Amino acid sequence: MPYKFHFLNVGYGSCIILEWNGKIIVIDCKKGDKEYNEDNLTDYIETSEIELLIITHPHIDHFDGVYEIFEKNIEVKEVWITPYDLRKEDIESDPESYKEYFILIDTIRNYGIPIRKVSRSKKPLYFSEDIPGAQIFVLNPPKNINQVKNRTVHDGCIVLKVITPGKTAVLGSDARDLTWKVIDDYASHLLPGDIFNVSHHGAADGLEKGVLEKVNPEYIILSAKTRLYEGIPDPETIDYYENFKKGKFLRTDEDGTIVIE
Ligand SMILES: [Fe+2]
Repeated sequence: MPYKFHFLNVGYGSCIILEWNGKIIVIDCKKGDKEYNEDNLTDYIETSEIELLIITHPHIDHFDGVYEIFEKNIEVKEVWITPYDLRKEDIESDPESYKEYFILIDTIRNYGIPIRKVSRSKKPLYFSEDIPGAQIFVLNPPKNINQVKNRTVHDGCIVLKVITPGKTAVLGSDARDLTWKVIDDYASHLLPGDIFNVSHHGAADGLEKGVLEKVNPEYIILSAKTRLYEGIPDPETIDYYENFKKGKFLRTDEDGTIVIE
């Protein structure tokens, strides 16, 4: 059975599934709104267990669907989170989102699910004999993220390179241009990929043109909702993705859930 990447149409947010042979890894889990024909992980895919759930950073548009996983008694074997420690300034900027995040992490702990804080590593942090050939590299954040001056919460995003025997993917979460520069400095050899998941839902600060050149993707995927936030997605930035070389540009708000195998 081929490996499949599913980019769910969850509105403004992100939910990505890597599927093979009935096993799944979930990268972020925003809950879609049925009223707008959006998808939810637990309605979209039938499964009794999740090998690995990765919450890339503490913003609610990346995790508010996780509770439905527990409500449906789906077993989660392991959770990865960012080691980024929220600062007072971060919390003051969006207290509700961060409060929800801490409650979620406590809930996960109470379920007894192992939580691992992951940072950039030269070796893949995930590989399994059950999933021959699949590897996940963490490209960001760096180990010293909590000592970096002028850091922002998006510099602490988990950015991934996923390798399967079929396609490879670079999944940008909400990384901003400066985050990409750091990734390029330390892990540029891991940037080339078949699939590029546009970071920060098409905001201008998520595009780093030099990095996109190095990824040189066959598919460019945007997970976004139009007319919700001014400037996201940003029209000029979208234009750049749309006209980037031979990359096929697909977006969840227009194309619905996108599956690539
Ligand atoms: Fe975010």
